[in-house]
Amino acid sequence: MTNNSNTSRVTVKVLEQMKNDGEKISMLTAYDFSFAKIIDEAGVDVILVGDSASNVMAGHETTLPITLDQMIYHASAVVRAVKRALVVVDLPFGTYQADSKEALKSAIRIMKESGAHAVKLEGGHLAKESIERIIQAGIPVMGHLGLTPQSIYKFGTYTVRAKDDEEANTLIDDSKMLENIGCFSIVLEKIPNILAKKVASNLKLPIIGIGAGSGVDGQVLVSHDMLGMNKDFSPRFLRRYLDLDSLVSEAVKKYSSDIKSGSFPNKEEQY
Ligand code: KIV
Repeated sequence: MTNNSNTSRVTVKVLEQMKNDGEKISMLTAYDFSFAKIIDEAGVDVILVGDSASNVMAGHETTLPITLDQMIYHASAVVRAVKRALVVVDLPFGTYQADSKEALKSAIRIMKESGAHAVKLEGGHLAKESIERIIQAGIPVMGHLGLTPQSIYKFGTYTVRAKDDEEANTLIDDSKMLENIGCFSIVLEKIPNILAKKVASNLKLPIIGIGAGSGVDGQVLVSHDMLGMNKDFSPRFLRRYLDLDSLVSEAVKKYSSDIKSGSFPNKEEQY
């Protein structure tokens, strides 16, 4: 097994090699320069500029409102910070569903205006033509199956997907199709562990899970969730590595009380 965490630049080929070598892939979201720099320097393999920016950066209830211009703004900031990780950017809702020409135009804008390395988009057979057209233009595409948050109003709930045979079989067919048309990776969101493991072991391309168990080739989480910035969001799959909400709150309270007591700034903190 090779350890790819110190190599210069992560490419789609490196990810393929990591799967072959049995090395797990780490992926995390970032939406701005400062966080992306920390995450990249910490050695995360793939940075996703997710449309979850709509939730965690803009405070929307769903991912639907974020625009292509806003995604490009976030992605450009991330790209400026990243030296090693592969930067993947979500195509936001409404920028690829109408037809494949529009999908290609949206993907080209992301690549040209942000400098990102790949795009991600949600959906299986319905997105096939768009994905094919984007890949034909030389743009690497990451698929996204299972719980696809841009379709939340169709599902009606953020619960686990593909628990019944019919949906599980569709997901298996869609994942094979995504591999056949040339996607370099697939995100599987919130599906049973056994199904995700089956998909990962039957396909050559790396499968990245979120709430899809340990049998896949890598894991992704939303950085704000794993850093504990959102106390109200506690799905079973989320492991919190920090309580940033409390840490920031304590620091801000101390800052405020130091100002009010006159202890900030002190003699050394002025000119
Ligand atoms: O937008 C996002 O953050 C995502 C991840 C949850 C995979 O798509």
